[in-house]
Amino acid sequence: MSAPSTHLTPEDLLSAATGLLAAEQDPLANMANLSALIFEALPDLNWAGFYLYRPHAAAPASLFTVASGGSSEGEGELVLGPFQGRIACTRIAMGKGVCGTAARTRTTQRIPDVHAFPGHIACDAASASELVIPLVAHGQLLGVLDLDSPRKDRFSPADQQLLETLVAAFLAALPGVA
Ligand code: SME
Repeated sequence: MSAPSTHLTPEDLLSAATGLLAAEQDPLANMANLSALIFEALPDLNWAGFYLYRPHAAAPASLFTVASGGSSEGEGELVLGPFQGRIACTRIAMGKGVCGTAARTRTTQRIPDVHAFPGHIACDAASASELVIPLVAHGQLLGVLDLDSPRKDRFSPADQQLLETLVAAFLAALPGVA
């Protein structure tokens, strides 16, 4: 587990995120810095980062690709994106684990005890609780933001709201997304 050096209030975290998003338009750079900001600003995290949606297609993926529909055939998967923390699983199937569940259902998953979550994927055995927020822009799934903690019940409803607000700011700053 890391020892974050700078814990921020929710207001300061959002303000710092807004500043990063105003200063840079590239989504890859912003995901990298938002991961670092979250990881440093929030106490008791052992992982913070993004998984990006990728279709099962032969064509090379662009940074963001969109889900084609709800059928399981060619449903796609999540692929590891910018993050802070230990080496993680690189691919997660839709519907699998906490991340795959957030992606398929397009709903935030706030899990107080990951060991009680059916199908939880233990990238790091130290993880005890998890918060996963789907990235959905104009009805299209782009990926998820995933936070892990070694402390059970680490994430409060207020944390969920804070991170959902941050994700909304990130999505609003994407090129072409008003
Ligand atoms: N635990 C996650 C997998 C991703 S890692 O925690 C970074 C899950 O169950 O989806």
